[in-house]
Amino acid sequence: MTQELITGAGSRRLAAAALARRGARRCFAVASDRAASGWLERSLRGAGLDFVRFSGFSANPRYEDIVAATRLFRKSGCDSVMAVGGGSAIDTAKCVKLFCRMDASQNYLEQPYEDTGAPLAAVPTTAGSGSEATSFAVIYAGGEKRSVAHDSLLPDIAALDPQTLATLPLYQKKCTLLDALCHAVEAWWSVNSTEESVEYSRSALSGITSHMDDYFEGEPGAAEAVMFAANAAGRAINIAKTTAAHAMCYKLTSSFALPHGHAVALCLPRAWRYILEHPERTTDIRGAAHLAEALRGIALCIGARSAEEGPTRFEALLDELCIAAPSGAEWDVSRLAAFVDPARLKNFPVSIGEKELAELYRQMTVRGK
Ligand SMILES: [Fe+2]
Repeated sequence: MTQELITGAGSRRLAAAALARRGARRCFAVASDRAASGWLERSLRGAGLDFVRFSGFSANPRYEDIVAATRLFRKSGCDSVMAVGGGSAIDTAKCVKLFCRMDASQNYLEQPYEDTGAPLAAVPTTAGSGSEATSFAVIYAGGEKRSVAHDSLLPDIAALDPQTLATLPLYQKKCTLLDALCHAVEAWWSVNSTEESVEYSRSALSGITSHMDDYFEGEPGAAEAVMFAANAAGRAINIAKTTAAHAMCYKLTSSFALPHGHAVALCLPRAWRYILEHPERTTDIRGAAHLAEALRGIALCIGARSAEEGPTRFEALLDELCIAAPSGAEWDVSRLAAFVDPARLKNFPVSIGEKELAELYRQMTVRGK
């Protein structure tokens, strides 16, 4: 499916009209109160669309909230979906699109997925999740992370408007941009990487490292650059998928209420060093030399001088940004390791077991004190 990409300052206001051109009449608008000030309602009305607003989702979207959203979508006769927000809003909207014609008396996650044809627009208000560029969503059911994947989940329309980043609090800017950074790194070393995905990773990493400081200081030109970089990182994981760092982070998020980007940034350097220390465990069929070249490319892109220096450079960045492991928290490292999804580890370029994962978690606790 080809996505209609609208870019530039003010482009968020054009998403509603793009939905109307695809036949939308009554739009289900998933948006937090912060993300959707008056412009959303004005642009929907201006495009001739009726709409119902839904803001009952949380930072890590829960299945129960998505069930409630899907019920409201049906009850109000909506025919299209628009998400304005970070990854949680966009992932909620994706699930509503996918679930809206399913049997409501059964668990949606256990039914076959089909394209419902409901047009979907995404207006990200963070430079981070890249969800506007992917065909999957991450939600939590009973406290456990679930991945929902279907080709039709790639939004039909994405508007990258840097003005949406202007009011984002600094800590959220950091967490979301670190998430994008991790996407670019993990996609690059993933066993599924392709020439195209590596180009997206390279572009994302150089965009983020060049403009990060100015972005955190509120420079408008930098906001546009990091928004494109996060989108490129999203395109990279849409091809190559995430790996061990993401697999490890979900239980940290649910156990310690850590934002996703914060949690994954803590896991990344541990997973990174593990790859460097275990070339003999390479599972990528392209071999250890290919993997070494990937690690070198990643490291140079973030300003390190060698592959070995990559994770150290990344940890220095976390220190600069004051992103640390939660201190004083109870870390049951064996339990954390037991919850890591083995399916996600298949994308990781070296083999790793539960015992080794527990050790990586333990190393994080040492660093956090
Ligand atoms: Fe992520």
